[in-house]
Amino acid sequence: MTNKIIVALDVNTIKELERLLDILSPHIKIFKVGMELFYSCGPKAVEIIKKYDREVFLDLKFFDIPNTVYSSSKAIARFGLFMFNVHVQGGAGMMKMALKGAEEESEKLGVSRPRILGVTVLTSMDEQDLQQVGINKSSKEHVLNLARLAKQSGLDGVVASPREVRWIRKEIGKDFLIVTPGIRPAGDAKGDQKRIATPREAINAGADYIVMGRPITKAKDPVKALDSIVNSE
Ligand code: C5P
Repeated sequence: MTNKIIVALDVNTIKELERLLDILSPHIKIFKVGMELFYSCGPKAVEIIKKYDREVFLDLKFFDIPNTVYSSSKAIARFGLFMFNVHVQGGAGMMKMALKGAEEESEKLGVSRPRILGVTVLTSMDEQDLQQVGINKSSKEHVLNLARLAKQSGLDGVVASPREVRWIRKEIGKDFLIVTPGIRPAGDAKGDQKRIATPREAINAGADYIVMGRPITKAKDPVKALDSIVNSE
């Protein structure tokens, strides 16, 4: 299971980043840089993870007009990323331009293109939250529509809740990455997450990767926390 765990490094200093990398890089292959770390430390955070010879999933969730997303995708493709993401709700035009930007820049640099994921519905949102933003469908129906649109727009996969993995897999098929945050070991604090599952449930449902932050990074002993996650049922 360890190969399927992406650790979210949601910290805001280089010192804290290096502390976690010292502890976790012997065990984890891919690290996620989200908004907190990127807006605090900038591209240097990505550089440091790459110095540890580890891969980066840059989670900035682009959601803007197609032209802005196109040039931003080009800019971040220069970092040599494993993966990044955009919101599916930005529309097909925006997703296609994200792909175009990353493709053009990677080709120019002679490197492989980062995989691009579409964020469906945040795992912190439940049906009541969806209704408040004008979506009067079940979260299942809405997520499946968005996953289909991401696939049609050429993206490599989606970010979704572990509870939706089985449906997405059935609907879209094998050749599509499904990455799930909202993972909590049985008995752990939910924090702000709502549509959650345990690591084993998410993997058994067919997730390619699970993203975990606080249950590992906030643990007194992150390696011990990781071990008990890997060995949990
Ligand atoms: O600490 P925790 O395990 O909740 O961290 C989950 C990580 O995944 C956070 O960095 C959060 O920004 C990110 N994420 C999420 N839901 C999404 C996409 C990303 O929780 N739909």
